[in-house]
Amino acid sequence: MERLQKVIAAAGIASRRKAEELISAGKVTVNGETVTELGTKVGRSDKIEVEGIRVEQEEKVYYLLYKPRAVLSASSDDRGRKTVTDLFPEVKERLYPVGRLDYDTTGILLLTNDGEFAYQMTHPKFNIDKTYVARVKGIPTKEQLKQLEKGIVLEDGKTAPARAKLISMDKKTGRSIVSLTIHEGKNRQVKRMFEAIGCPVQKLKRESFGFLGLHGMNAGDRRELTAHEVKQLRVLAETGKIG
Ligand code: URA
Repeated sequence: MERLQKVIAAAGIASRRKAEELISAGKVTVNGETVTELGTKVGRSDKIEVEGIRVEQEEKVYYLLYKPRAVLSASSDDRGRKTVTDLFPEVKERLYPVGRLDYDTTGILLLTNDGEFAYQMTHPKFNIDKTYVARVKGIPTKEQLKQLEKGIVLEDGKTAPARAKLISMDKKTGRSIVSLTIHEGKNRQVKRMFEAIGCPVQKLKRESFGFLGLHGMNAGDRRELTAHEVKQLRVLAETGKIG
């Protein structure tokens, strides 16, 4: 048995706080009866509805995908482009991506049907490190790398402290490979940060998410997360450390 607000949040319908508000406001029914008491326990066989819409109590599933290029981080697309959930044709649970990678960005992406987990993994207050490797035009100077690390003023605010490292450079082509570790997830953040220092991104890959990497995987590969990894990610989000 689980608390009603937890089940509503886990289904991705609302945050736990919003779920509590919905319950208190009399918008939730269990087996046809309105329930306003917070903490009411419900089981898998109970029929829960929020504003008349059935809450699916699916088993929770968690996947790690090595997202290929030219795939949209969404559950559907009105322009008919391929989406990340198209890469899981046999999975019957309603998966959605945890955060987003751009259409042309490759790399690690988590997918789940656990709304509360997705919220914990993406909310900036939980601070999970994500490392990107970018091929950029130009070769950033030490000073420019410092700027990336200290914070760049973007139109939606200053970026939080980050780590940047020049991995390699090709003086002939005037291009370089730079890794950047950030824990926020502003829209197109990495590309905008590099644009701001005058080194536009030509190719972008997310190599790690917290302690998870892509070891031994190729673009398009995926695997289920282990129960231990899911637990460790939650601990990491809540405490900033694992174990
Ligand atoms: N930052 C970007 O600019 N693009 C991504 O896909 C992810 C982070």
